[in-house]
Order: sequence, then structure tokens, then C-alpha cells
Amino acid sequence: MADLKTYDHDVLVIGAGGAGLRAAIEAAAGGVSVGLVCKSLLGKAHTVMAEGGMAAAMGNVDDRDNWKVHFTDTLRGGQYVNNWRMAELHAREAPDRVKELEAWGALFDRTKDGRILQRNFGGHRYPRLAHVGDRTGLEMIRTLQDHGVHQGIDVHMEVTVTTLFKRGDRVVGALGYDRHHGDFHLFRARAVVLATGGIGRAYQITSNSWEYSGDGQALAYQAGASLMDMEFIQFHPTGMVWPPSVKGILVTEGVRGEGGVLLNNKGERFMFNDIPDNYKAQTADTPEEGWRYTQGDKNARRPPELLTRDHVARCIMREVKAGRGSPHGGVFLDIAWIKEKIKNAPEHIRKKLPSMYHQFKQLADIDITAVPMEIGPTTHYVMGGIRVEGDSQMSAVPGLFAAGEAAAGLHGANRLGGNSLSDLLVFGKRAGEYAARFARENAAIAPDSGEVAEKIKTALEPFDRKSGESPYKVQHDLQKMMQELVGIVRKEDEMLHAAEGLKALKARAANVSVTGSREYNPGWHTAIEIQNLITVSEAVILSAVARKESRGGHFREDYQDKKAEFGTFNHLVDQAADGTMELTQKPIPPMTAELKLIVEEMK
Ligand code: FUM
Repeated sequence: MADLKTYDHDVLVIGAGGAGLRAAIEAAAGGVSVGLVCKSLLGKAHTVMAEGGMAAAMGNVDDRDNWKVHFTDTLRGGQYVNNWRMAELHAREAPDRVKELEAWGALFDRTKDGRILQRNFGGHRYPRLAHVGDRTGLEMIRTLQDHGVHQGIDVHMEVTVTTLFKRGDRVVGALGYDRHHGDFHLFRARAVVLATGGIGRAYQITSNSWEYSGDGQALAYQAGASLMDMEFIQFHPTGMVWPPSVKGILVTEGVRGEGGVLLNNKGERFMFNDIPDNYKAQTADTPEEGWRYTQGDKNARRPPELLTRDHVARCIMREVKAGRGSPHGGVFLDIAWIKEKIKNAPEHIRKKLPSMYHQFKQLADIDITAVPMEIGPTTHYVMGGIRVEGDSQMSAVPGLFAAGEAAAGLHGANRLGGNSLSDLLVFGKRAGEYAARFARENAAIAPDSGEVAEKIKTALEPFDRKSGESPYKVQHDLQKMMQELVGIVRKEDEMLHAAEGLKALKARAANVSVTGSREYNPGWHTAIEIQNLITVSEAVILSAVARKESRGGHFREDYQDKKAEFGTFNHLVDQAADGTMELTQKPIPPMTAELKLIVEEMK
């Protein structure tokens, strides 16, 4: 262990996107020492893929909005399996978190009278997304980073954590390696916050970059925390489909929020053909009414393109399957059409959607102010994750906290667009605050040195195998299998086939080999990551097979309806005593009378 570097932090935050940065800032404000581990460079995070805005009921554009409406929109979007306490805290606290971000330097777009501008997004009753053009996540990361670097936080860049250590029940530290030299780093900590984001890399087509391999979920599971509702995966309706090298890159919902429409190859606005009963009263009857809504007419109802993401993604798939898709397997998203309505439409589009304009121009040689884009669904987000207590964000393992996409509960079966950025701020802050409190109240304990040595040895095993398979091949086969058999539309026989396939992949992953040295060796990194991808994929399959209904991000061709009994519990995935994965149902606790009344009043 000669090359083992050791650090002591009161609170260790793993993951440096919006939730991790916000947690680190709050923990530092709590007077404890903080270490922040980034898998990549500081500032490179999936947070920037939440482009269109952060949802907070500020009522700047429509004063009918308030936290109660936001709360009920979130529950309706999540189809009532949300952690209602988290949905309440989120709706109540999001406006303050947005104002705080502004005070720290975020430059939001403005209303004519100088307040933070808010735009429409799917499933939100009123214009609610505070935004910075279509670069809101980027502005959020920039602001948190600028603010955070002055708080005395120790940043460890390009370090991947492979293990959490416990003494008794409690988490006491973590082991990681750096990408530069392949050196190992031991972090001793009184409390740990997991803010590692999602599991998008378990799929072939995804908006997630290479970092999102379910590390936090797998670490927590191995440490004895529960994973919850892992079947609920969000396929964002609009990712790029062409050229192949950029397939899956996000096209913000902000395009539809600004009046963009979805068309099939017959030029039909197919979203008008399938409006779910529970959204009928809120949805426009005519294209003209939908347009007026996007332009701020308070008496108009929202266009069907702004129905929830799960529904829009399925409608797109239906068009493609029926042969009404675009040449490269998607459908058309047209914002150029607004030239019929607005003078100087190209300038307007470039101002409102600058990143989308450049993204399509540079990556696909398409001018979105003149012609429609080609888009299709892309794996974007996992609503499930580490089960946490709503107020504190602590998992079942004392001292282990989780926030942001790594944690489950707030979004239920389907997340509303824009609720992720506010989630990161609200619950990142809470996780940091409670982790600091835990650290103040609990003494430091060193991880067992024998266990540390053993975990290092395990991480290096792929170098010892001389004739194993390439880790890339195993990763590729896993992603293809998940995409084809556990994707947007699921069926029992296909998922059982995936479960069998996973057993074979597990055996193959245990036998991969890598060559070369530990310096900058992505093959070795992949060999380690596929273990996490396999763990989270197993949790997704197990939960998805058991949920014999369709709800939110989980759609079953063989059980197309929602069933009342499945709305009464969450799925928990835990490690059984024999090391196998086991699934249980955890009843959702009854809502408080106050919240129940709000839901009834809002219908
Ligand atoms: O479409 C988007 O801009 C994504 C937002 C989100 O995922 O919250």
C-alpha cells in the first residue's frame, strides 16, 4: 500500500454536480472539513443537461402559481408513488434556493419588469422554470463552483470511488483511484454524501456521458442501503438521432416550451391524437390554443407536446413503429414554423435556444431556425435510487447520505422536467446540512486496514488475468441488452430473457482482463465500472418484472393499465444475507391531513 494516499475529512461528498456542490457548500457552512470527489473535472456534470430551467413556484409570470400547485403537479407527474414529504419540501423550498443561487451570481433571463423569467415545461401547470436561455444547468454549475471554491472545500478531481467502508453499522470512509496515475486514495470521513448522479450508461442511447455508471447506487447497495423503485427510468422524448456519433444527446424540452411542435412524416401533429384522460381538461383542443399558451396567454391550455415525458416518448415510439417516423428513426421537432407567427423568428429562436441552435448547426449541419430537427427518445434520468429519509437525506446506513439523482423518492414514477435542478439545490443543501450535523456528533473511526488492502487487491485483479475478455465488449453487450429488452416498452418474456442474460454477463464481467499500466487506463476503469452497471441493471430488471402494471417511466406492453394496488407501495431492493438481490414492497405511509386536503382541492 506504498502508493496509498490518505485524507481526513469530516464530510466526504462523492460527486460534484449540482447536488454534490450544494451539499459541500452547506456542509462547509456547518463548520466541518469537507472533501469533494469528482469522477471527472470539476464542473463537468450531467446537471448541465438540464438545459431548460429549474422549477420553482415563484409566480413571476403567472401569479396563480404557488408551492401547493407545484406539489400536486409533482405528485401527479410521479403518479402518486412519490415520497410526499420530499415533494412538499421541494415545492416549499425551491423558490428560496433559486433566489439564493441568484444572490451567488447566477444570471437568469428576466421578465420585462426585471424579475426572474419562468417558462412552460411538461406537466407544470404554470410557467415555472427559472432559466438562462437553454443553458440553465451550466449556469447553475458555474455559480455553485464559483461560490464553492471560496468555502475551503478540498477538491479531489478525476477520482473514482470503488468502495465504502463501515465500522459496525456506520460508514467511516471510502476508497478510490485517480485516472492519472491509477494511485489509490483512502478517504477517512465521519459522514459521506453520495451525489453521483444516474445510471444512463446502462443503456445504449443516453444523454448521460461516461461518468454515469450507477456508482453511487451500487456503492450504497453494497454498504447495506436499500435501492428504491429502480424500474422507473425516464426516457426523455427528444434526443438527437442523427448523425450516429451524436445519437442520444439531449434536445431540451425548452424547444417545446417555446412553441416547438412534434410532427410525423405526414406532417401531422400526432400528439393531439392521444391525450390521457387525467390531463384532458388542461390540454389545448387546437394548435392555435397551444401556441397562445406558449406565448403566455393565461386563458389558454397547454399544447399536447407538453404532456409528461413518459407519455410523449411513447407516442413518438408509436409513430416510428407505425412507419410514420423520420428518415433516421425518430420524428420531427419543428420550431422553425414560428416564423408564421413571429417577426424575426430566427433571431428569436437563436436568443431563446442558443445552445440548440449551435448544437444542430455544428453537429448535424442543420439550421433549426429554417428546418425541423430529427429527434427520438433518449435515456435521461432514473427516478429510482438510494432510499433516503425525506428531511435529512440519510440512507438506512448511519452516516451515509444521498442527494440528487442518486437518491429516490421525490419524483415517484416520472420526473417533471425542471424538477431535477431544484431537487439538486433543495436536497443537496439538506444532505450537506445533516451530514455536517452527523459529523459533529460522531467521532472519526479509521477503516480496517486489512479491508482496505483487500479492496485494492480486488480492484487490480483485471491486470492479473492474462486471457480474459475485453471489458468494453461486456459493457457493450450489457447496454445493448438493456436498450432492447428493458427499454421504453417492456414485456415479461423479454425482461426474463434479460435477467438470464445478466447472469451470463456477470460471469463474463468477473473474468475480464486488461493490459498496460495503471496510468490513464480506460480499459481498467471500464472493468471496474461494469460491476456497478451490472448491479443497477439487476435492480432495474428485478423491480420491472415485479411491477405488473404501467406507471410513469415504466410501461408494460403486457400490463398497459395502472393498477390501484401498485400505487400503495414502493419497491425496495436489498442485499440478502447470502449476497443475492432481494425485492420487497414497502407500503407508502399515509399523507398528512394537510397535504391530503391540498391534493383533493387541486384535483
Ligand atoms: O429538456 C431539458 O432541458 C431537461 C431538463 C430536465 O431534465 O430537467
